[in-house]
Amino acid sequence: MSPIGRMGKGYALWLLFIIEIIILVHFTTCKVPAIIVFGDSSVDSGNNNFIPTMARSNFEPYGRDFFNGNPTGRFSNGRIPPDFISEAFGIKEAVPPYLDPAYSISDFATGVCFASAGTGYDNATAHVADVIPLWKEVEYYKEYQQKLRAHLGEEKANEIISEALYLVSIGTNDFLENYYALTERRCEFPSVEQYEDFLIGLAENFFKEIYWLGARKISLTGLPPMGCLPLERAENILEFHNCVERYNNLALEFNGKLGWLVSKLNKDLPGFQMVDANAYDIFLQIVTDPSRFGFEEATTACCGTGRFEMGFLCNPKFTCQDANKYVFWDAFHPSQKTSQIVSNYLVEKYLSKFL
Ligand SMILES: *[C@@H]1O[C@H](CO)[C@@H](O)[C@H](O)[C@H]1NC(C)=O
Repeated sequence: MSPIGRMGKGYALWLLFIIEIIILVHFTTCKVPAIIVFGDSSVDSGNNNFIPTMARSNFEPYGRDFFNGNPTGRFSNGRIPPDFISEAFGIKEAVPPYLDPAYSISDFATGVCFASAGTGYDNATAHVADVIPLWKEVEYYKEYQQKLRAHLGEEKANEIISEALYLVSIGTNDFLENYYALTERRCEFPSVEQYEDFLIGLAENFFKEIYWLGARKISLTGLPPMGCLPLERAENILEFHNCVERYNNLALEFNGKLGWLVSKLNKDLPGFQMVDANAYDIFLQIVTDPSRFGFEEATTACCGTGRFEMGFLCNPKFTCQDANKYVFWDAFHPSQKTSQIVSNYLVEKYLSKFL
């Protein structure tokens, strides 16, 4: 054999060796086989399309920047954070809603969404718009586990259940659609701190339940700076449509309590790996300095007047041209571009340990 040929052979062996290492590393570190989602409209990919509620967004102009330009039931012009996070984990570009009959258990084996727009930790919150209460999301999750075991066998299904990354994002509606909008909970819990503690108790029960059902890797996203949502700003006339400080402070306080809960659960539950994936700071940065992130408008939303419209009030005729210029898509929800920036931040800062 010529020296060149021998060199080639040595090179080929090296290459094989390196490829083998890459494959090994890939299989030993790439451990998240599925993304499983619980929560409200911040993460709902369309479950409300399949239940009788007004809290829907499966019509134009929603979804106009989604892959095929079709409305999906996501409260966005395109994708939402679980979609971007799933993609970042090399799984798939969109997480399907559990109630959509167009998908089967083989689709759900790599990702499934149980979230429902309008829901909260509190049963009474889901009742406001007749959406799926959190306990029912857990019932659907149990049914999913059964289907997964029937589909893949006990061992493989258990592996997916314990290695999956669970994304949980919920809580805004408990305060804005329930506590401050209705009287029942305010009579029961005269101070908002009492209501916060009630919600923290419900949150603790929820996380313990999914832990006992096999979930281990959890990402919990607390409240955004709720006082900066266009709907809340619109009502803040006396302060020239500034962010409502009271709501932002409340979000900070509640997020602090969630942070304590995360530490406590990680200590109490063996093998539990819960991360406090707080999006408050990045969200506030985007709202206070939109141009730094390439946005032109952070006070009003793309849809309609940008001050109060969401859901069926969003009219395709009165919607901005380019949603990428807007931090908010409707009066209550971020645009696809904001979701992408927030997701990238969360993956880099909190979730990369699971990558
Ligand atoms: C919420 O409703 C479910 C179903 O009715 C019930 O089992 C659960 O105890 C309720 N939770 C609270 C905190 O009331």
